[in-house]
Amino acid sequence: MSKDLQDFRNEAYGETAALRYNVFESRPSGFAIRIAPKIRAFYQKTRTGQTNKHLLDVACGTGQMAEYFLDHDFEVVGIDQSPHMLKYARANNAKYVASGQCQFNEWDSSNFHLDSQFGLAACTFNGLNHLTSFGQVENCLDCVHRALVPGGYFIFDINTRRGLKSVVDTVDLYDTNEEIIMRKRIFDGKRVILYASGCFLHKGAWIRYRETIFKIIIDTKELRQSMLDHGWSSVTYTTDDLMSPVEDPEVEQVAYVVARKAK
Ligand SMILES: C[S@@+](CC[C@H](N)C(=O)[O-])C[C@H]1O[C@@H](n2cnc3c(N)ncnc32)[C@H](O)[C@@H]1O
Repeated sequence: MSKDLQDFRNEAYGETAALRYNVFESRPSGFAIRIAPKIRAFYQKTRTGQTNKHLLDVACGTGQMAEYFLDHDFEVVGIDQSPHMLKYARANNAKYVASGQCQFNEWDSSNFHLDSQFGLAACTFNGLNHLTSFGQVENCLDCVHRALVPGGYFIFDINTRRGLKSVVDTVDLYDTNEEIIMRKRIFDGKRVILYASGCFLHKGAWIRYRETIFKIIIDTKELRQSMLDHGWSSVTYTTDDLMSPVEDPEVEQVAYVVARKAK
């Protein structure tokens, strides 16, 4: 990777990007805010969900999903590798951090160790696509598996090949009263690279913003097989209500996965 590209890479979820994310994703339309009630509704109906209220929030970002579960009496551990995203996660959930109901750790989601205690783990808004190889995805799945109690669930979404490829070589311009941002996505043979540049309005001031995000393509068949080979007892692709199985996730833009650790 050239030095220039490496410099760009460092900007993913950096200081300004985290500020923007915190402002724009904390709205009712934010991905985590929309999916969190569906994850809880699913989990509550399970046997594990009757007794275990411990959530592991993988690649927790600015902590929107954590907040929803904390408001519903869960204990939450969030992990993310961006200190800037974590700064907002802690601030958004300050009273729960102070009471010890949650903690946010600056950890790599493909290399962490938590003992088996969580009934539920979740990773929202394509956190797994942000890892750098399928091997890292497998490492992450193993770490999550170890952290779950027997019979625990891991619920996550990924951008499918179709979802990622459908936006390659397109340029979007978001031009609203609050932001003017251009996004271009290219495919380098392995990853989709999203370049975003522009400015957004925060507390009356326009703030310059530039970010590059890398996403890998995760083959849904390979993912499911790998999980079954690594001790997950069931791995189901569903629609976003998490209740209805989907036969071929590759025809979707986003695939939702409900996986269960063997009892
Ligand atoms: C699109 S954001 C999703 C954040 C949050 N889950 C949500 O739904 O709002 C992707 C997150 O993945 C985090 N991330 C990327 N690679 C990571 C890694 N290897 N370990 C932990 N977090 C990572 C980023 O810092 C970022 O916060």
